[in-house]
Amino acid sequence: VVTSGAVVVTGAASGIGRALALRAARDRRPVAICDVAPEGLAETERGVRELGVECTSGVFDVRDEAALAAFADRVPGPIGLVFANAGVLRSAAVSQLSPAVLRFMFEINVFALHSTVTTFLPRLRAQPSPSRMVLLGSTASFESAGEGAPYCATKHAVWALAQGLRDELDAEGGPVGVSVVAPGVVRTAIFATADEGDRVISAPAASSGGITPDEAAERIFAGLDRGAFLIATHPEELPGVVRATFEATMRELV
Ligand SMILES: NC(=O)c1ccc[n+]([C@@H]2O[C@H](COP(=O)([O-])OP(=O)(O)OC[C@H]3O[C@@H](n4cnc5c(N)ncnc54)[C@H](O)[C@@H]3O)[C@@H](O)[C@H]2O)c1
Repeated sequence: VVTSGAVVVTGAASGIGRALALRAARDRRPVAICDVAPEGLAETERGVRELGVECTSGVFDVRDEAALAAFADRVPGPIGLVFANAGVLRSAAVSQLSPAVLRFMFEINVFALHSTVTTFLPRLRAQPSPSRMVLLGSTASFESAGEGAPYCATKHAVWALAQGLRDELDAEGGPVGVSVVAPGVVRTAIFATADEGDRVISAPAASSGGITPDEAAERIFAGLDRGAFLIATHPEELPGVVRATFEATMRELV
C-alpha cells in the first residue's frame, strides 16, 4: 500500500532519521521531525526547506510523552508515515552492565518507540487514507552476542512489539499498517555516541563497512513501496543472520 501525506520522523537530527526526512522531502511530502539535539535538527530542517517543502519541527526528548503528544498535534494535514526512529546504542558485557545504562536504552529504543505508536495511532486510525507506522528494529533484533547483547535485547523487543501490532492492525482491517526496519551497518553517529562510563564501539571499525544513511533511506522507502512488513537494508546479509540464530536455537533444544 503506497501512502501519501506527511512523513513524521523521530530522531531526525542525524543519520538514518535525517536521511528519511530528506528522502520524504524529495518526494514533496510535508515533513515533521523531532529530536533532542537542536543543532542537528535545525540542519535537517534547513535541508527540507531548501527543497521547498513544509517542515514542522520539535526539539524534545522522545521519552517526554507530553512533548510528543504536543508535537503530534502540530503535524498538519493527513499523515502517511510515522518513523519511530530515535535510538541509542551502548555497549557493555551483561555482567558489567549498569542498570542505568540498560534502562536508558530500553526507555528510548523500546518505551519511547511504543509511545510514538500510541500517540500517533488514534490520528492515523481516524484518517480514511492508508498510513503506516514504521518501527526501527535492527539486524540486532535477530542476533545477540558479546557486548552488543544489551542493545540486541532492546531491538529483540522492537521485533516482538512489531509482530503484535501487525496482528492487531490486520485484525482491525483499518487503514493503518506497520513495518519494521532491520538495518545492517549504516554509517552514522550512533557508533560514536557514548555517555560517561560507557564503552564506545569504535567508529572507524563500524564505518569501514556499511552503507550511507541516504542509501538506507532509499532501500527503506523501496521496501515501504513493496508493502513489506520486514524491511532489510542489507537483504544479502539478514537471511543468513536469521537462519544462523534459528539453527543455533534449534541445536539448544536437542
Ligand atoms: N546505524 C546503524 O548501523 C543502525 C543499524 C541498525 C539499526 N539502527 C537504528 O536506526 C535508528 C537510527 O539510528 P542512526 O544510526 O541514524 O543513529 P544516529 O545516532 O545517527 O541518530 C539517532 C538520532 O536519535 C536521536 N535521539 C536519541 N535519543 C533521543 C531521545 N531521547 N529523544 C529524541 N531524540 C533522540 C539522536 O539525537 C540522533 O539524532 C536507531 O533506532 C538505531 O538503533 C541503526
